[in-house]
Amino acid sequence: MQFQKIKEKILIVDFGSQVTKLIARRIRDLGVYSEILTPNEIKKIKDFKRIKGIILSGGPSTVTTQRFQTIPIKIFSKQIPILGICYGLQLIAKIFGGKIKPSKKRREFGRAYIYKKKKSILTKKFFSPNCSVWMSHQDAVVKLPKGFKLIAYTTDSKLSIIENSKKKIYGVQFHPEVTHTDKGKQLFKNFLFSICKIKKKWNVVSQKKRLIYEIRKTVKKDKVICALSGGVDSSVVALLINKAIKKNLICIMVDTGLMRKDEFKTSYNVFKKKHKFNIKLINASHIFLKKLKNISNPEKKRKIIGNLFIKIFEKESKKYKNVKFLAQGTLYPDIIESRSSSGSKTSKIKSHHNVGGLPKKMNLTLIEPLKEFFKDEVRILGSSLGLQKNICFKHPFPGPGLGIRIIGKITKEKIKILQEADHIYINELVKNKLYDKIWQAYAALLPIKTVGVMGDSRTYEFICLLRAVKSEDGMTADYFNFPKEFLDKISNEIVNKVKGINRVVYDISSKPPSTIELE
Ligand code: XMP
Repeated sequence: MQFQKIKEKILIVDFGSQVTKLIARRIRDLGVYSEILTPNEIKKIKDFKRIKGIILSGGPSTVTTQRFQTIPIKIFSKQIPILGICYGLQLIAKIFGGKIKPSKKRREFGRAYIYKKKKSILTKKFFSPNCSVWMSHQDAVVKLPKGFKLIAYTTDSKLSIIENSKKKIYGVQFHPEVTHTDKGKQLFKNFLFSICKIKKKWNVVSQKKRLIYEIRKTVKKDKVICALSGGVDSSVVALLINKAIKKNLICIMVDTGLMRKDEFKTSYNVFKKKHKFNIKLINASHIFLKKLKNISNPEKKRKIIGNLFIKIFEKESKKYKNVKFLAQGTLYPDIIESRSSSGSKTSKIKSHHNVGGLPKKMNLTLIEPLKEFFKDEVRILGSSLGLQKNICFKHPFPGPGLGIRIIGKITKEKIKILQEADHIYINELVKNKLYDKIWQAYAALLPIKTVGVMGDSRTYEFICLLRAVKSEDGMTADYFNFPKEFLDKISNEIVNKVKGINRVVYDISSKPPSTIELE
């Protein structure tokens, strides 16, 4: 069989920055395959033949202490182009004898104007009048390392871009991977195609045949079990595996009762009728409700929902014979995040039960066909597998579902109220062609009752909070700017049609400092 094998790649060394993933994202967007490794993993590489370039990420460490995170020095003399970003730049400066000043008081954070000092291949078509870049650093390089030239500076960072073109080593103090940097993409383009001279060969759909072939080769005549939620990731996993082994894929849908209105029924029908899956739907809503009774702590809710889900799934899967594999919709960001949390200093904000979460005791081998891909790549793959648009482009939905969108205690009545409000909201977004412009939108129920007046009567009912955010990958987010007419309409619709809600508020906070979900 002929597949597009991944031949050439760019390596990204992750020093723990919150936005390292975005570097890989940008590079793949440019049609080049890239992988993220920890500094330890890079130490183990023996063969550098397929590595056309290395990017050193930012991170919370400092090179101004005795011990600091680094990569083997010999890599710098391999003539493989290297680009250091933020901490990466400081590391290059340190290794080549520059001077780095720790700054306890002063931090350069946010937008900064950058000025050209010298021409460089890295900055071809990069500068423009009022060209701004995104800074986020404390330490600063204050003396050029040996053999390096200064290419650009900002008011606060005298050494913002440096290069040693002979050794093909480049460094930038700012973050070209975040969208706030004008022309950040151009900088990567220059690095990849003019400096690393790597070819544009990566595209997701061309990986489909390879993935299906690999599943077939791994599973042979055995059976695979898969927890299908109807979200994008598990749907694409199931479609891929179904293409490879047909009825030997067993899908189980556990209905927690905490899904959006009619969501489970609709997805079940799609997969059963259209895709002819071997699939079982289990209604476990009453058990979830019982276990969640009187629980209001968000982390407790998450744990209860996650553990119960696993228990039910495990029990159900034991009913099938010859099951040797468990399929999971793990994505590349999940892999990077779970790895960097052990290796570097990124802190845990919420426990996400879908990350490495399914049964460990089951003695099944994991199949994770999406583990090389980002969410939007998974969507492209899904479309090419015939997944219908409303599933393929569905907004992300958290594992604990409405459980973490009903703030405080969960009851059957509250679930019903929220499902209705959320249903109206999402339908209106679709009708008004806003749904696809938003990364994630949902309604939540606040545990506060306020007074209202309807007709001639006083009401005392719950507050419905609406959230809609723009984001690239959920790591950072800005609230969506709705036209006033839409907000007026949606508020009216919800208050008029949903009994139990008499007030609607719109969440205008960004992440950070808030998160996307309320709990
Ligand atoms: P936060 O709230 O941390 O959410 O800004 C970022 C993204 O993750 C989703 N999310 C979860 N997904 N289990 C999940 O599967 C969870 O417990 C969970 N909590 C948050 C959230 O919807 C958003 O897309």
